[in-house]
Amino acid sequence: INIKITDRDGVKHEIVAPTDMAMNLMEVVRSYELAPEGTIGICGGMAMCASCQCYVTSDTELPEMGDDEEAMLSEAFDVKENSRLGCQIQMTPEMEGLEVELAPES
Ligand code: FES
Repeated sequence: INIKITDRDGVKHEIVAPTDMAMNLMEVVRSYELAPEGTIGICGGMAMCASCQCYVTSDTELPEMGDDEEAMLSEAFDVKENSRLGCQIQMTPEMEGLEVELAPES
């Protein structure tokens, strides 16, 4: 699928993400090195650190937030209405066209 990720320097990257590797958005950001090692995915995708927070700017229909994700975002910094945790967004065909901006490093 094609998605767009704006990094923390404001640079927009057009990415082709695989849907057959059970990857989530945080892992895509890491594999394309769109954020320095150690600044994203710190908890390993457990919805426990918010380092993978991003702002969703497309009207893509995302899966509902889980309780863990909601709880983490309720105590994270720089949270906006369109905040989600990248590690909780799986790369599925439905995510085609997704556009996100990475939240500032927390
Ligand atoms: Fe820690 Fe997503 S990687 S909350």
